[in-house]
Amino acid sequence: MKEALPPLVKTSAVIGVNVIGKTPEEYELLARRLSQAPIHFLELNVSCPNLKSKGGLSFGSDPDACAALTEKAVKAAGDKPVMVKLPPLVSDLTSLAKKVESAGASFISLINSVPAMAVDINKRAPKLGIATGGLSGPPIKPLALRQVFMAAKAVKIPVVGLGGIFSYQDALEFIMVGAAAVQIGTAILVDPTAPLKIIEGLGQWLKKQKLTNLKNLKLDI
Ligand SMILES: Cc1cc2nc3c(=O)[nH]c(=O)nc-3n(C[C@H](O)[C@H](O)[C@H](O)COP(=O)(O)O)c2cc1C
Repeated sequence: MKEALPPLVKTSAVIGVNVIGKTPEEYELLARRLSQAPIHFLELNVSCPNLKSKGGLSFGSDPDACAALTEKAVKAAGDKPVMVKLPPLVSDLTSLAKKVESAGASFISLINSVPAMAVDINKRAPKLGIATGGLSGPPIKPLALRQVFMAAKAVKIPVVGLGGIFSYQDALEFIMVGAAAVQIGTAILVDPTAPLKIIEGLGQWLKKQKLTNLKNLKLDI
């Protein structure tokens, strides 16, 4: 709030802040603090695979815990809409998404990175800091598409899709399976102008298709 936010507030960007806590009370505290900040929405990260201690992923994999946490954060966030970011691997995504919706979330986003591992065979050691970590980028796109498809079928609130979006064609796939919007993560680490190129590509594609917007592109399945 002291360092990252002030330069962003000077732009015309819509600002969403992604938060994570070790306990529901920590999420509540963050939501209360951010309810007073010049931001447009909060995103609860209940799906981080990079924490050694309890928190993050452990909330997202338990529908009741996730719903209770969402309810607390939504109340504390006041009039700021709350997006809940779900994990990629859960046994019952439909019921998790429905519970989060009933708990007052304004949107759902998914997927977070996929718990994964990489090994340095010469050092005979894990390549990642806490042995395991999160896989992101193109390899997770098919998994993300399926999860966005399932979540969008389960809830009425908008679903924001992400996972391996590097091109406008990738973004269109997410929109066609039911995403109301998309997020770009890893692609920005490769090319910070990726979102601008994707927006431009979408515009050109719409023109070629003789369409004026991205509505009504959902697959008929
Ligand atoms: C370096 C890195 C840092 C990330 N940090 C966060 C984070 O702080 N909070 C969060 O919810 N997700 C975080 N993620 C997950 C991404 O937001 C995203 O859900 C995931 O990587 C899949 O999208 P992508 O393939 O476009 O990156 C991070 C991913 C990467 C690669």
